[in-house]
Amino acid sequence: MRLPELKIGGFTARVPIVQGGMSVRVSRSSLAAAVAECGGIGTIGGSGIPLEELKADIRRAKEMTQGIIAVNIMFAIRDFAAAVLASIEAGVDMIVTGAGFSRDVFAVGEEHGVPVVSIVSSPQLARLAEKSGAAAIVVESTEAGGHLGTDEPLRELFPRVRELVTGVPLIAAGGISDGYDIAEMMGDYGADGVQMATRFVLTQECDVADAFKDMYRKAGRDDVVEMQSPVGLPGRAIRNPFLDELAEFGVVGDGRCKRVCLKKCTKSFCIIDRLDQSREGDVVGGLVFSGSEVWRYDDEPTVKELMDRLVSEAESAYRGRGVATARE
Ligand SMILES: Cc1cc2nc3c(=O)[nH]c(=O)nc-3n(C[C@H](O)[C@H](O)[C@H](O)COP(=O)(O)O)c2cc1C
Repeated sequence: MRLPELKIGGFTARVPIVQGGMSVRVSRSSLAAAVAECGGIGTIGGSGIPLEELKADIRRAKEMTQGIIAVNIMFAIRDFAAAVLASIEAGVDMIVTGAGFSRDVFAVGEEHGVPVVSIVSSPQLARLAEKSGAAAIVVESTEAGGHLGTDEPLRELFPRVRELVTGVPLIAAGGISDGYDIAEMMGDYGADGVQMATRFVLTQECDVADAFKDMYRKAGRDDVVEMQSPVGLPGRAIRNPFLDELAEFGVVGDGRCKRVCLKKCTKSFCIIDRLDQSREGDVVGGLVFSGSEVWRYDDEPTVKELMDRLVSEAESAYRGRGVATARE
């Protein structure tokens, strides 16, 4: 049995896998285009980089593939509206928003014919997103990497949202690590697709430093912890000396801000500096965001190898369950 397609707005992804956006240059055109080329949806992390760089990267991705390219923009950033418009101008296919909820973005998407996808972590917000005009909803649970909106596990949160939301595709996110998880979420829980991020960091096309990838490969189950982000939300990351210092003192650095990038910032540390540091290879002083299931991965396939593996695992598990799909 084949996995069903994922339809969002006027777009159809042949493979119902969305590669989640990872900001400050973790998911860029090289990764997103490779995922899109395999029939999934590739997402560029659009927060924490200059708008001209973001536009150039979206254009590059669009040149690299005919597949679907999305951009993820955090509502928490000060230039949220400008980043949405810049992405649309650069020709992005889809806008994905998380870390807060914007009501205005739906009208902007509609005006330009660009579907808007909301990332939510509660049934209430999912209902609001559906009513406001979201083309699809990502239900993100506590297992996810980066900023967290809930402490609820996916298999508890997702059914509560599924009960309330019927009119738009629902995409499950948080801790999905292989094709068997995909088959479970789609076959047993009624998800229309999945979003995965941590797994995609360990691919050849993800251009973070080798030290960042080594940190992922070496992480044990207990190394992934929750921390407090200056955004005012908890985040999930791999424990390192930087996080130990933050846990002990509550602040790291001089508290001075040179960017003013967030709408609200606790100034406990500069999140852009620390994310940039880790991506460039300083995994001692930088912040290494990661989902809870990172300890499961130690290989570094190409995106094509990974996507083929995910699809074949999911389809064999589907067959085992006897789940009927949309295309059969
Ligand atoms: C390194 C990293 C950076 C992330 N950055 C963002 C981001 O900028 N915006 C966002 O909405 N989600 C972000 N996320 C969350 C992912 O897009 C995704 O929804 C989540 O991690 C899914 O769980 P998984 O990583 O267990 O597959 C990030 C996740 C990781 C691991």
